[in-house]
Amino acid sequence: MDNDGFTFRRQLSAMARERLKLSGISEIIALVESNGALSFGAGEPPDETFPKDAFRSAVERALSEGTIWAYYHDDLGDRDLRAWIAERMSRDDMAPDWVGPEDVVITHGAAGAVSLAAEALIDEGTIVLVEGPTYSDSLLTFRRQGAICVPVSTDDEGILPEELERTPQLKGARFLYTIPNFQNPSGCTASVERRLRVLDILRRHDVAIVEDDPYHYLGYDGPVPTSYLKLAGDDRRVIHCNTFSKIVAPGLRIGWAVVPPALRDVFLALCICDGLGPALLMQRAILHLMRTLDFEKHVEGLRREYRSRRDMMLGLAEERLTPLGLRTNRPKGGFFIWGQGPDDMRGFNSAAFARYAVQHEGIGLIPGNVFFPDGDDRGDRAFRLSYARIPLDRMDEGMVRLARAWRTYSAHRHEDRE
Ligand SMILES: Cc1ncc(COP(=O)(O)O)c(C=O)c1O
Repeated sequence: MDNDGFTFRRQLSAMARERLKLSGISEIIALVESNGALSFGAGEPPDETFPKDAFRSAVERALSEGTIWAYYHDDLGDRDLRAWIAERMSRDDMAPDWVGPEDVVITHGAAGAVSLAAEALIDEGTIVLVEGPTYSDSLLTFRRQGAICVPVSTDDEGILPEELERTPQLKGARFLYTIPNFQNPSGCTASVERRLRVLDILRRHDVAIVEDDPYHYLGYDGPVPTSYLKLAGDDRRVIHCNTFSKIVAPGLRIGWAVVPPALRDVFLALCICDGLGPALLMQRAILHLMRTLDFEKHVEGLRREYRSRRDMMLGLAEERLTPLGLRTNRPKGGFFIWGQGPDDMRGFNSAAFARYAVQHEGIGLIPGNVFFPDGDDRGDRAFRLSYARIPLDRMDEGMVRLARAWRTYSAHRHEDRE
């Protein structure tokens, strides 16, 4: 008799048995916690950016409305919040003219929006084109649904159109999943020219786009390029996913999707299956927060905070990592810096290095391989560093630890080979 009781061995679905392997991120996060380590791992805002007082008042306002207690009879989400989002997106050059409140669906964060899109578009064996590297949780979401994810290489300006065009699976792919701004994990942003070329290729091959844009408002070096949603215009092949997680707080779990009219009924049914959408209290509280907050001032404050964090980390990376042969890029926004191990380090494996760094030097980082499908070695020498949440006054200490981890790890590996 198993001590844990009923095993569910015979009852478990093939999907749950075969497709739900967690990415290496969970392992690193658990190691960071058990080692009491500093971490460059967390891709989420620090506590001091949460608008706690304003949110408390917004919740009180929502509670006093009396409408939040019953079922809401529009499963796509609160009408007023959907109207606020549609209006904001049109003002910020994110949405074409056809987008109105009826095209917006409130979801459990951007992750919930991506998940609904996956359920709407993926069958067993469906080809999904992704950026190489891409957000690991979305890889899991697509795999759960039965997709085969095909990464297309990227450079500082996003997906390489030539490589996209040469990808054998392009013909027959259902959609491209792209994070065009300050990408997780690479930090890269696709230029408008790049987006237009990618769009042209996808149009010619009848491929849709799922655009995931959680870092949209966190650009630190000037305006953000026009969204795929807007560039596609009346073509309406784009499902756009977004969220309040990075500009308010991730724990509130409120995001949205802009859904083309052809998919509205499908999304409505999926929202019903998905537990009838996020709590109305939370949707109304976000609405009141947005109505009372000076939005532009709020996001400018966030940009100021993260810009200084990014600049500090870039300076420290140059001082402490570059001399060791570790290369890092320069993101124009978001939370992440992408690093690469030295070219001449044969067999360098960032997953082993990440484990070593947290266990021996007390510093967490995310290894690059988790951002590619299993068996793809393109992330093996890479790693992601986040400057978003580490306490500012400990960032240098974190970099010192990382540099020391690298030095001792390489020395050990050197000894191993001798
Ligand atoms: C690209 C990307 N998509 C989705 C998410 C999930 O965001 P949310 O909290 O809105 O579900 C994240 C969070 O890190 C992300 O980086």
